[in-house]
Amino acid sequence: MNLLDRAEEVRSILKKDLLQVKIDFQSVEDIRIKFLGKKGYIPTLFREFASLSVEEKRKYGKILNLLKKEAEDSINTLKQRSTSVAAKEEFFDFTLPGKPQKSGHLHPVTQTMNEICSIFREMGFGIEFGPEVETDYYNFQALNFPENHPAREMQDTFFIDDSILLRTHTSPIQIRTMEKQKPPIRILAPGRVYRNEAISARSYCTFHQIEGLYVDENVTFCELKGTLEIFAKRYFGKNVKLRFRPSYFPFTEPSAEVDISCFICGGSGCRVCKNTGWLEILGSGMVDPNVFVSVGIDPEKYTGYAFGMGPDRIAMLKYGIDDIRLFFDGDIRFLKQF
Ligand code: PHE
Repeated sequence: MNLLDRAEEVRSILKKDLLQVKIDFQSVEDIRIKFLGKKGYIPTLFREFASLSVEEKRKYGKILNLLKKEAEDSINTLKQRSTSVAAKEEFFDFTLPGKPQKSGHLHPVTQTMNEICSIFREMGFGIEFGPEVETDYYNFQALNFPENHPAREMQDTFFIDDSILLRTHTSPIQIRTMEKQKPPIRILAPGRVYRNEAISARSYCTFHQIEGLYVDENVTFCELKGTLEIFAKRYFGKNVKLRFRPSYFPFTEPSAEVDISCFICGGSGCRVCKNTGWLEILGSGMVDPNVFVSVGIDPEKYTGYAFGMGPDRIAMLKYGIDDIRLFFDGDIRFLKQF
C-alpha cells in the first residue's frame, strides 16, 4: 500500500473516531496519542516520508501536511469542548444569591383572627378553644336556651343526633371555660362554627367567630363598652365610632348589637354600609345569671360580659370582598392576593 492510500486510511479512522469519542479529557487525550503521539499514525507516516525520494516527497508532502493539520484542528476543538463541559459540571458560584422559593401564607380570615386576638391579648385576655362537634347541652341548654324554646330557631343547626350537633356559635366555650376556671376569667375563643342556612354571597354553612368573656366581681356594662371601643379604635382606626343597639340573646341580659361607623365612607353613607353609615360587627351583653348558675358561679357575687364577633365579615369589610364563599373555595388566585 502506498503512502497516499495509507494517509487516506488514517483519515477515515480519524473521522470514525471523532464521531464516537466521548467529550472528556481522557478520551480526547487518547485520540491525540493515537494519531499525533510519537508512535501515532501520523508521525509514523512522516518517518516513512523522510526516506522517500525528492520526487515522491513532492507528490505526498502536501497530502501528509493536510492530514496532520486536519487531525490537529479537530483534536484541539475537542479539547476545548471537553474543558468547557468540565467547567460547567464542576463550577459553582457560592456567592450567587439564592433562588427565591415560593411559600404559602395564612388565609385572610386567619390573618384577621390573629390580628384581633393579639389586640385582646395585649389587654390581658387568654385564648381558649373548644370542640366543633358539640353537645346540645353546651351549645344551647347551659346557655339558657330552654328545650323547645323558640330562641333555638335563631340558629339553624346541623344535628348529628338528638343531643350531638355542629356548634352554631363559639359561646359553648364560655361554658367549658367557666366549668374549669374560677373567676377572674378573661378569655377570647376563636373558631369555626356551622349553620344550616341557605348559601349565598352573604351567608355560608360554615364561618368563624371570636368569643370574648370576662367574669369577675363588679364587671359592668361600662367596661364592655370601653373594652370594645379600645379594640375598634385599634383595629379599624382611631376615628371610628361605636353604636350599641338593644338586642336579645338568651345567654346575655341586657344584650346589645354593636355597629361601627363605616370606615369606608366615614359615616356619610356608601355601598358597603348600604347608605346607613354603620356596619354591624358583633353581638354582646352581660352574662345572664342563669348561665352562671349552670356552671356553679355565684351570680350574687360575680358579673361578667360576653361578646361574639364574625371575623369573616370583618375581613370582607376590610378587604372589600363581596362574597363570603370566596373564603371557603380555596381558589389560589383569590387567596394569593392577601
Ligand atoms: N353567640 C352569639 C351569636 O352567635 C353572639 C354573642 C356572643 C352574643 C356573646 C352575645 C354574647 O350570634
